Amino acid sequence: MFVSVVLLVLVLCARGGRGEDDVKKQSRGHVSVVIVGGTGDLARKYLWQGFFQLYLNHVSRGSTFSFYAGGQSPSDKATPIFFGIVKAVSCPKDVSEQRCAVLKEQFLRLAQYRQLKTPEDYQDLSKHIERQAQEEGLNEAGRLFYLSVPAFAYADVADKIHTGCRPAAGGAWLRVVLEKPFGHDLKSAQVLAARLGNSLQEEEMYRIDHYLGKQVVSKILPFRVENRKFLDPIWNKQHIERIEIVLKETLDVKGRIPFYDQYGVIRDVIQNHLTEVLTLLTMRLPANLSDSEDVLQNKLRIFSSLLPLGKNQAVTGQYQAYQAEVQQELNKTKDHVSLTPTFAAVLAHMEAAQYEGVPFLLLAGKMLDQRVGYARVLFKNDVFCVQDQHNLHCKPKQIIFYFGHGNLQYPAVLVTKNLFKPSVMEGKWKEVTEQADILVVGLPASHYYIQTPKVQQEAYAELISHIFTGHKNTFISTENLLASWGFWTPLLQSLAGSFPRVYPGGADNGDLLDVCLKGKEIGFTSEAVIISPDHVGGASAASFQAMQGKFRNATMVSAWAEELVERLAADMQEAAEAAVLQGGVFHLALSGGATPIALFQRLALHHFSFPWRNTHIWMVDERCVPLSDPESNFFNLQRHLLQHVHVPYLNIHPMLVQLGQRLCVEDDHAAQMYQEDIANHVNASSFHFVLLGVGHDGHTASLFPGGDATDSQEGLVVLRESPGKPHRRMSLTLGAINRAQKVAVLVLGKNKHELITQLSRSKDRPDKWPVTGVRPSEGSLAWYIDYDALLG
Ligand code: BG6
Repeated sequence: MFVSVVLLVLVLCARGGRGEDDVKKQSRGHVSVVIVGGTGDLARKYLWQGFFQLYLNHVSRGSTFSFYAGGQSPSDKATPIFFGIVKAVSCPKDVSEQRCAVLKEQFLRLAQYRQLKTPEDYQDLSKHIERQAQEEGLNEAGRLFYLSVPAFAYADVADKIHTGCRPAAGGAWLRVVLEKPFGHDLKSAQVLAARLGNSLQEEEMYRIDHYLGKQVVSKILPFRVENRKFLDPIWNKQHIERIEIVLKETLDVKGRIPFYDQYGVIRDVIQNHLTEVLTLLTMRLPANLSDSEDVLQNKLRIFSSLLPLGKNQAVTGQYQAYQAEVQQELNKTKDHVSLTPTFAAVLAHMEAAQYEGVPFLLLAGKMLDQRVGYARVLFKNDVFCVQDQHNLHCKPKQIIFYFGHGNLQYPAVLVTKNLFKPSVMEGKWKEVTEQADILVVGLPASHYYIQTPKVQQEAYAELISHIFTGHKNTFISTENLLASWGFWTPLLQSLAGSFPRVYPGGADNGDLLDVCLKGKEIGFTSEAVIISPDHVGGASAASFQAMQGKFRNATMVSAWAEELVERLAADMQEAAEAAVLQGGVFHLALSGGATPIALFQRLALHHFSFPWRNTHIWMVDERCVPLSDPESNFFNLQRHLLQHVHVPYLNIHPMLVQLGQRLCVEDDHAAQMYQEDIANHVNASSFHFVLLGVGHDGHTASLFPGGDATDSQEGLVVLRESPGKPHRRMSLTLGAINRAQKVAVLVLGKNKHELITQLSRSKDRPDKWPVTGVRPSEGSLAWYIDYDALLG
């Protein structure tokens, strides 16, 4: 069968002008291509198309092929699916319809599905390849395995290939192609590399980073070489202002959460794609671009010159709908919180003399306003135009490696006209002379010299052809991979557990994710973040609204429940920041019950910049149950807030209701001990902020009607009886509460309407309505009442 296919293609090619002698000269033998996972998503979207392209390019040069889709399913089930996929491949524009039909037909005849599950399946495949080659009288050139399977299966498949399906020694080559993820951090990457190393030689492994197959990315080094005379004098810290490598996307990660939630944006695209671009931009130019060893060594030098990244060299974000997507796709409850970032901006620096002090900004995110990717080398411009600000000389000087999409819509290399006119890149590139009036990375297109590939090519097709020709430069070697993980892992570890800034997505993000570089550190430009929950519906960050008025002669803030909670959380953060600024510490006393849970969640999820490290958490009251009992206020505080934020252990002050096996026994003096604790830590025993609720009977903290209100003014902490279970409680007294600098009473829900109405009419009667005894002597009191409670 192979012979007939070759003959037919030779006829077709001869028509295209290629002589038989040429073909003989270039004869390369027979290659078996096996896509393990050959009916999966990636194979369907890119791989078969890429291999068809390979077939078109190389079969006419004397190579013969057979193609196998390997999978877990039995052949009778998967074969029709497989042929459905392969039939959809398309020819390049310059191939006529008729010729395309013939070529596709040949390609289909050379392709088959095979179940590849057990070691025997691999052995059978090997025998099949050998037998066919023998029957057809073909010389086996090599076997190319493309592992389009989850990473956890790599080592196992590699082992089966090694033991059952290697070509006979001394002749044909073996190439095994792997797709990321190559580990999750340095450790796991090392483990995976070691396991693969048991089955495969380094030169047999082709780790794909599809960015290296992008036309513009693969032009970075050639561009630097070809324009050496212009670049050599300016490619250094004296002239480069900064380098930005940006990958903005508009899509979310719906449908990919099981993968994405484990990885997040840094592992997904920064550790690999953007880092590779960074090394290409900054590495020393090798003497010979096709010398993979030289390229690798120069890249490795860059990794060792990158300064370690601390927590302050990165900011992260998460688009708002992400939590719900996670809950849905991972089958989690509403309480589940994912801290996986979908946006990150990282500021790196190098130790190398050439780049000392040059900021390298790597930024990527999902659900942003635009899909665009580029690397920008921005140069210093010391020209000041006195009269004509529009003069090109005063404009930014920059080189843009534009990967695609965005305003320009095509890949290109752009150099501002105030820098130099680059030499036109060989053969496959052309200069763009007519350009629409658009902005490209801040400047009108007319300000640039622009070059673009004559024909656009998918990264996968490009890389597949490199695998075939054994061109290893565009793949990630083990050393390269481990060096990259070595650089990123400490940052990933230090970010674990920190809260990404929540952003609404798309144009609504406004300036929420804008970053500024402050020396070696990076931060968001805007500090306070309030996002309305109806952002998903498209409202903007400024749509937050609350009504302000008076209730019982004190400040009242009112809004719908969610907005109200946002406002209270924001006010609390403001108080915290002010206190920390003034005295380095914030003392916050929180009450229990169901009402504050929404607030705790809000704080946990959205207030990543809350100064938790400087905050002391105190209890307003506690039920006399063990702290591990779900009835315990502390248990709920821990569950909804403390486990999600970084409050130092010693700053957390639960009320000690249980001593040994005894719960709230007067003789244990636990209330007194708590009081002493407060006196020892809190300046003048005056909390910065006390959060209260109010019960239907007017109780607040655990101060119930009928209790001795005056007695409650005396000490700071008391044991009290509650009419409801559990009956014994420990509580701050009105005295302690009224010493506070700010007191907030949060009231939510229609069933509190009646109470609010009554309270609005009653005088201060702490014995009857304990909450009316809340009158901070020096501090302020604010009621946060939602519309349901206020209006019924
Ligand atoms: C992939 C990531 O590696 O790169 C995706 O897993 C990302 O999350 C994609 O969308 C971006 O690639 P491109 O080619 O669309 O810029």
